[in-house]
Amino acid sequence: MRPLIAGNWKMHGLTEDSAALARGIRAGLGDLSAEVLVCPPFTQIAAVAAILEGSGVAVGGQNFYPAPLGPHTGEISATMLRDLGARYVILGHSERRADQGETDAMVAAKVKAAVAAGLIPIVCVGETGAQRAAGQQEAVVGGQLAGSLGAEFAGVVAYEPIWAIGTGKVPTVADIRGMHAFIRAELVRLQPEGAGTRILYGGSVKPGNAAEILAVPEVGGALVGGASLVADDFLRIIAAA
Ligand code: PGA
Repeated sequence: MRPLIAGNWKMHGLTEDSAALARGIRAGLGDLSAEVLVCPPFTQIAAVAAILEGSGVAVGGQNFYPAPLGPHTGEISATMLRDLGARYVILGHSERRADQGETDAMVAAKVKAAVAAGLIPIVCVGETGAQRAAGQQEAVVGGQLAGSLGAEFAGVVAYEPIWAIGTGKVPTVADIRGMHAFIRAELVRLQPEGAGTRILYGGSVKPGNAAEILAVPEVGGALVGGASLVADDFLRIIAAA
C-alpha cells in the first residue's frame, strides 16, 4: 500500500490563502508515489477540491455531526462533506477531545456515520506527556482504539502523541516503532481487517524528519499539521514518502 500523506489545516485558511496553498501544492506535485490528502476547514473544502480536481490529491474534512440530517443547528453531516468533494474525514483529533470534550463513544458514532456516507475515517489516538512519563501510553492508546473504532473498522488510524503536536518534539524512532507495533497488534486482536489498516504517525512531522519517520516499520504515512500550511514544506514531506 502506498503511504498516505495527509495535511490537517486545522482552523487556518481564508479564501485567498487557502486557494494559494492548494495551487502551490498542485503546481509542485510531480510524480506521486504517495497518496496525498489535504483537510481544509469546512468553509474551504469545496474551493480546494475544485482547485485539486484531477491532481490525484484527495480532500477531506476535520469533523462532522453524526446524524444524517435534521434539527442540529450549526452542524454539518458526513453526507454534506461528501457533497463538497471530501473523501476522508479526520475524527477524534486530540484538539477536539480536549476542546469539545469528544469521547471515544462520540468518535465511534462518527466512524459509523462516516463509513455509511462513503467517507474514509482517520481516527486519531495518542497519549499526553504526563501519561507517557507514567508509562501509561499503551493503556491509553489501547483504550482509545477499543472505544473509538467500532466493531468492523474500515479506515485509517493516526498515532499522534499529544505532547508532539505543534511542539517540535518528536518521539524517538524506537518509541514510534514500539507504539506502531503495539497498535498493529491491537488492531489485529480487535478487528477482522486489522492486519491491513493503515497507521499514520502525526506530531511535528517536518521536511527534515519525514524520511526517517516514514521508514519506521508499521508507519503507513503521516498526518501533518503546521508543515502542511506551507506548500514547499508539504511537498518536501510528500517527496520523502
Ligand atoms: P503538527 O500537528 O504537525 O503541527 O504537530 C499534527 C496534527 O495535529 O495533526
